[in-house]
Amino acid sequence: MSDNITASASSERPTWWRHGVVYQLYVRSYTDANGDGIGDLGGVAARLDHIATLGVDGVWLNPCYPSPNRDGGYDVADYTVIDERYGGMPAFEALRDAAHARGLKLLMDLVPNHCSTEHDWFRRAVAAGPGADERGRFIFRDGRGAGGSQPPNNWRSTFGGPAWTRLTGPDGEPEQWYLHSFDAGQPDFDWSNPEVADMFDDVLRTWFDRGVDGFRIDVAYAMVKHPDLPDLDDPAGENPYSWNQPGVHDIFRRWRALADAYERELALVGEVWLPPAEAADYIRPGELHQVFNFDLLQQEFDARAFRASITDCLDALKHVEGVPAWTLNSHDVHRAVTRYGLTDPEPPATADLNALRTRARGVVDVQLGTERAKAALLLMLALPGTAYLYQGEELGLPEVQDLPDEARRDPIWERSGHTEHGRDGSRVPLPWRADAPDFGFSLGPDHPEHAQHTEAEPPWLPQPAWFADYSADRQESDPRSVLAFYRRALRERRNLDPDAPLAWLEIQRDDAIAFRRGDYVCVTVFDGPPIDALPQWGPAVISSGTAGDTRTTTWYCTAPAE
Ligand code: NOJ
Repeated sequence: MSDNITASASSERPTWWRHGVVYQLYVRSYTDANGDGIGDLGGVAARLDHIATLGVDGVWLNPCYPSPNRDGGYDVADYTVIDERYGGMPAFEALRDAAHARGLKLLMDLVPNHCSTEHDWFRRAVAAGPGADERGRFIFRDGRGAGGSQPPNNWRSTFGGPAWTRLTGPDGEPEQWYLHSFDAGQPDFDWSNPEVADMFDDVLRTWFDRGVDGFRIDVAYAMVKHPDLPDLDDPAGENPYSWNQPGVHDIFRRWRALADAYERELALVGEVWLPPAEAADYIRPGELHQVFNFDLLQQEFDARAFRASITDCLDALKHVEGVPAWTLNSHDVHRAVTRYGLTDPEPPATADLNALRTRARGVVDVQLGTERAKAALLLMLALPGTAYLYQGEELGLPEVQDLPDEARRDPIWERSGHTEHGRDGSRVPLPWRADAPDFGFSLGPDHPEHAQHTEAEPPWLPQPAWFADYSADRQESDPRSVLAFYRRALRERRNLDPDAPLAWLEIQRDDAIAFRRGDYVCVTVFDGPPIDALPQWGPAVISSGTAGDTRTTTWYCTAPAE
């Protein structure tokens, strides 16, 4: 028996964003062309062929706008240009052209919930004082209690600590508080103010006119707040007054209309950490093109959990036009090798469910984690919708859990009072060449952009010695490497019919799942003895397993469906 689930209600011919694979570039950590210890767009351009030969359809650049980098660039000081440290606008234009010449789409990161305290609007709001129109672009309030010394409500910042910070006036006296859902350097905009929406229309048009193919939208479910900013019954729990307010969908209808006015195909993908049914609302007709599915990434490596999560997600798509964007890795979570290989977790240092599921620390069986991460990747690539990869997963990198504390840059570390280690371990600069300084992260003094520095600065996060074993050059010519496997997997995905619906195959095993999509059958054994392929599935064409005795594999068979 099988239950058929259709990938999309749309009958239009699939376009690239319906089935493409996108490679996430955490620019600061990809490649450093100018030798200042921070990755840049020149570095991305110099190593663009690594991405093109993987066989993906596009790249998404994490924020590379001017920023004081209190939160890795998610504190934007100017949305309209590229930071000089990343090479400025000339480097952007060169990268855009190089990407397009290779047939790669270019997605930028849009951060509309908050900016930086160094953004001109916020500086002016601070200077203008309480009651001024300039303050109306942000969420300023008087404090409660004697002298307004208590925050306006009991909301908590996602990174720890209160979600409010109090300003000090020019006379040295404390004055109003401003809301920041994240770091204190990231003041939230007030989206009920039409000036905010107008500003972001201009930002979208500016980058679309410069040729970008779309945006990944940061915390796309956060922009609209309950107008009364009510206190929470449980400040440590979810905030129903700040996440997923109905009004947020108006913003996406407006942006979709703006994007649809362009002749070329643009894509808007929302970062929405909600259960599949609610996340699907963001890709209803006339809203976003894609929404990240983070539910799968939060599952234990378990057959029943994976099947339930995939089913929930696909079930939720009945009334939508867009597609799920599957992902197993990002700059916000521990790398899949580590999540799936964790054999002995440390006692949790947080009550935050998301952090517990995605950033648990402890002893890791790297071989087990690697087998599982490869199996999960092949499974993800067989699903209907788009897939997002995060730089370094194609090298099989585990999380760097043991960064020295003084090297940590993630604001979560400070704001949690040094209890939560944060996300730096997935952001360590990539290893390219086993025997080069910085493992080849810096292109070295011979690179033209390096001229201004005589000696390369060390990478902005230290790389562990064991990174040598994962370097791209060691994997390049090894057919058994994780890199070679990623290339084969992505090549095979191209043969899948993007329109084919997913139909589960009932194989009577609790430790394995199987489904058909068009001519392909995808089988994953999570933990158990191998499964013999049925003759009607056709011959196996690719497998994540490397040895006969593996207890974890995904493989595809292909034969025309009956
Ligand atoms: C989500 C981004 O992915 C994360 O890195 C960032 O810290 C928060 N949004 C705040 O912008």
